[in-house]
Amino acid sequence: MINLQNVNKIYRTNDIETVALENVNLEVEKGEFISIMGPSGCGKSTLLNIIGLLDSPTSGSVELCQTMTGTMKDRELAAFRNHNLGFVFQSFHLIPSLNVMDNVELPLIYRSHVSDKERKQMVREVLDRVGLSHRLRHMPAQLSGGQCQRVAVARAIVGNPEIILADEPTGNLDSKMGAEVMDILHRLNKEDGRTIVMVTHNEDQARQTDRIVRFFDGHQI
Ligand SMILES: Nc1ncnc2c1ncn2[C@@H]1O[C@H](COP(=O)(O)OP(=O)(O)O)[C@@H](O)[C@H]1O
Ligand SMILES: [Mg+2]
Repeated sequence: MINLQNVNKIYRTNDIETVALENVNLEVEKGEFISIMGPSGCGKSTLLNIIGLLDSPTSGSVELCQTMTGTMKDRELAAFRNHNLGFVFQSFHLIPSLNVMDNVELPLIYRSHVSDKERKQMVREVLDRVGLSHRLRHMPAQLSGGQCQRVAVARAIVGNPEIILADEPTGNLDSKMGAEVMDILHRLNKEDGRTIVMVTHNEDQARQTDRIVRFFDGHQI
């Protein structure tokens, strides 16, 4: 499902050069749920952004869903991301001026063949799955952190992507809310067979996934 070969990422700003990833090779099978661990600054978010086609490697190849992504143009990349990838971030990244339903509907707006009625139905179904059917018209500011993250998970999965990428999804949550979000991720993996790559600092959460990949200073260890 995910295949990275010899991926390097070097950030260059003026005369400073930062090697964020060095010769990373990573293969993730369809239906696998893996954890990425390592100290702050070791390249975890860079790795996730590269897998998620939000950033491109300095060298090396990224294959997703049996498609080589290196030669894709911006518009192709956007369409590929929209159909195949769902993101969950530590700080939720909800749009504060949109209510719960409208936030979750956003990824579907770019799908011209889906009617307004179908879209609303898909949104209601995913919000039901994350246990937020009773909060459809609430604004993000009226929700707890755990509820915000469940909205963000609903938004990530509403378009049925094969791959879910989560960057410290419980990092801003207390342990109870974090456990609820983890439950949802495990269900998406077990029941729907979604492939999940999650960055976490939590050893207990990581142990519950199929495999832990550890990084230090841009290297896999
Ligand atoms: N846009 C950027 N420009 C320059 N350096 C960056 C940029 N993004 C990340 N880095 C550097 O790359 C390294 C890896 O960062 P990151 O992937 O965010 O680490 P992590 O998520 O593991 O904390 C760090 O040294 C960071 O300072
Ligand atoms: Mg990070």
